Amino acid sequence: MKVFHDLQEWRRFKRTETLGFVPTMGALHDGHLSLIRRSQQENQRTLVSIFINPTQFNDPKDFQNYPQTLEQDLAKLQHIDYVLAPNAGQIYPHGYHYKVSEDKISNILEGAHRPGHFDGMLTVVLKLLNLARADRAYFGEKDFQQLQLVRGMAEDFFLDTEIVACPTVREADGLAMSSRNIRLQSREKAGLFPKLLKHPNARALLEEAGFEVDYIENWQGRTLGAVRLDNVRLIDNL
Ligand code: PAF
Repeated sequence: MKVFHDLQEWRRFKRTETLGFVPTMGALHDGHLSLIRRSQQENQRTLVSIFINPTQFNDPKDFQNYPQTLEQDLAKLQHIDYVLAPNAGQIYPHGYHYKVSEDKISNILEGAHRPGHFDGMLTVVLKLLNLARADRAYFGEKDFQQLQLVRGMAEDFFLDTEIVACPTVREADGLAMSSRNIRLQSREKAGLFPKLLKHPNARALLEEAGFEVDYIENWQGRTLGAVRLDNVRLIDNL
């Protein structure tokens, strides 16, 4: 495994094999590892990026509390080819002035509750896709709205990378895997979220169980939900 902290070094690096790309913000779990396995099956080489993107956090506390586990993450990536782990100064050398903004589906659901989140996410994903120059990039369906936006951006801006959707990976009790789960104090209760989300009366049942509900809505044939538990925000879709 070769780790690039310096983007210039990565950009000079020449490769000829097919490349699969898995962008992450670290705190790697089995969900990320399933994206990596899929990339390894479909490409000769795999690149993983680890970058906690400040511009996609609308809540500064969420950014401060986001798990930073680079050493443990690198230990989990010994079997992959390349890791890109730049700092914010390299990704935003001139600050955050040029932005990718979508003005239709990014205003609903997550976008309505997290102003600016999707601009930051799309901006960094465009930067990372341009840096990676990969044949395929892998995104989890847990972040369903993110996936649709990344797909739309890739099509609209004629990006050469194919965006591949991968199914949500769940814990034994059904909770969708997420880097934020390690901050949960009421971990057992969190397992109720996907179970109750299925229910026609989901909002009332979740509130009764002690969750704060941001939204539960049907969109593109799925039921999407976002809740808060122990000040940790959980999202899912079924
Ligand atoms: O899904 C994530 O972890 C992030 O939104 C992504 C795609 C790595 C961009 O920072």
